[in-house]
Amino acid sequence: MHTTSRGEEEPSLAAAFTREHHEIDAGIEAYLAATEPEPRRRAAPLRGAMEALRRHIYLEEEIVFPRLPPGPLIMPLMVMRREHGELWRRMDALAADLEDPATGTEGLETACRELLSLLEDHNAKEEPVIYPHLDADLDAEDGARVRELLRTGTLPAGWVCQQA
Ligand SMILES: [Fe+2]
Ligand SMILES: [Fe+2]
Repeated sequence: MHTTSRGEEEPSLAAAFTREHHEIDAGIEAYLAATEPEPRRRAAPLRGAMEALRRHIYLEEEIVFPRLPPGPLIMPLMVMRREHGELWRRMDALAADLEDPATGTEGLETACRELLSLLEDHNAKEEPVIYPHLDADLDAEDGARVRELLRTGTLPAGWVCQQA
């Protein structure tokens, strides 16, 4: 737990970022579980999850990763950025498929399952290897900035991740 200047307890940054992972997964899963047969009419949770994932990647690459001690994390951070690139391209393709009436339900659902599986693989490394450093290695000012951005930050227009 992290205590604010007002004495309120907040979850650790690691917990806050991990929670975003779960919320993003839940949005994609909600799309897959919906009973509405017309895929585009039930796409709101999927669109929301992709928007959240893009912002999540932005916060990691622009705000968090550059503030971590490079030494032992150089290789893992390189892997994270490479996987963000793959996730980003998959989201671009999925977003395009959602707009294309020629793509059937099955194609969209397969793309969602593949995205979930890439996320599972990515998060299974990021959570134990990178996230403990968020609370251990960011100074108080940077930590407060990250918390504020988690609450209110938006993806800058036109931003794409380094390896998209
Ligand atoms: Fe993440
Ligand atoms: Fe990530």
